[in-house]
Amino acid sequence: MSEIANLKAGLIADIAAADTLEALEALRVGAMGKNGVVTGLLKTLGPMSPEDRLEKGPPIQDLRESVAAALATRKAALEQAALDAQLAAEKIDMTLPADPGPQGSVHPVSQVMDELAEIFADLGFSVATGPEIEDQWHNFTALNMPETHPARAMHDTFYLSAEDGAEPKVLRTHTSPVQIRTMMNQEPPIRIIAPGRVYRSDSDATHTPMFHQIEGLVIDKGITLGHLKWTLETFLKAFFERDDIVLRLRPSYFPFTEPSVEVDVGYMLTNGQRVIGGDGDAPGGGWLEVLGSGMVNRRVIEACGLDPDEWQGFAFGTGVDRLAMLKYGMNDLRAFFDGDLRWLRHYGFSALDVPTLSGGVGA
Ligand code: DAH
Repeated sequence: MSEIANLKAGLIADIAAADTLEALEALRVGAMGKNGVVTGLLKTLGPMSPEDRLEKGPPIQDLRESVAAALATRKAALEQAALDAQLAAEKIDMTLPADPGPQGSVHPVSQVMDELAEIFADLGFSVATGPEIEDQWHNFTALNMPETHPARAMHDTFYLSAEDGAEPKVLRTHTSPVQIRTMMNQEPPIRIIAPGRVYRSDSDATHTPMFHQIEGLVIDKGITLGHLKWTLETFLKAFFERDDIVLRLRPSYFPFTEPSVEVDVGYMLTNGQRVIGGDGDAPGGGWLEVLGSGMVNRRVIEACGLDPDEWQGFAFGTGVDRLAMLKYGMNDLRAFFDGDLRWLRHYGFSALDVPTLSGGVGA
């Protein structure tokens, strides 16, 4: 075998045997580097006579090409092997159970609001909202509670400081102003509920300065007290998840409804506990007030720019926190807003447990 053929076979064998990229690089420098053997042979071609070059050139060129090809092949193989090794080392076992991490819970107020929205959605009501910083016209005047109206004093109102002699705004004392905003912004027929935060300057075991109400409003043609009664009965049955809900409607007074009714539900004393359901007049029974309601006062409909001879309706309002207490058995309202994790873990709901109502409306 010629010298060049020997050199080629030796280099190619060495390259194939190189087991690291560093070893391969050393071989490349030794062969093809500035002072490499192959480079040295290539340099001898320059000064040769054309005849010599014609004879010696091809094997040297072949040597260069073969060695370059062998280097490239081996390099690719070593790089692939390195990548395979890295992938194998970094493999993640997707079947290992994940760390559960801390879990929050849904506050009973949020839970009850969701339940109410779900129940009223089944009855064709959508959810309306309004600002918590409200002007006195929406909070009082349009609801037939003018400046001198005694009912206005019943609300222990938080007034905000006003600029430049403007009328002070208030923290809304009830969700009823959302009735006004809805009638002003929406063409009847209207069917809405408005859950949200309300504020009164009041604090004891059953009153907190901030609490939650839900308002309901229907405006349509030919609406009667019968529609109101059916709607409230259907809602309370779905909410308390019982068919034996009995309502008692008592005449009452609210400036924004005429006539006005207060709604009680019957309960039965069972093991010393008031359990909602049954006729409150039966032995062992009693009544719990749960709602204020009535037919929307003509003056309210008029204040919103509608013709009260064409449009009638009913409204109702109640405390969301109170509904939560009656359904889930808490007895101190203040604990709702203390943020005590033990209370929240006990009374909170799992965000993953949906739906929580055992049946929808009419189920
Ligand atoms: N806004 C009343 C309150 O805060 C509750 C209420 C009573 C709302 C009767 C109504 C209603 O819509 O018709 O005490």
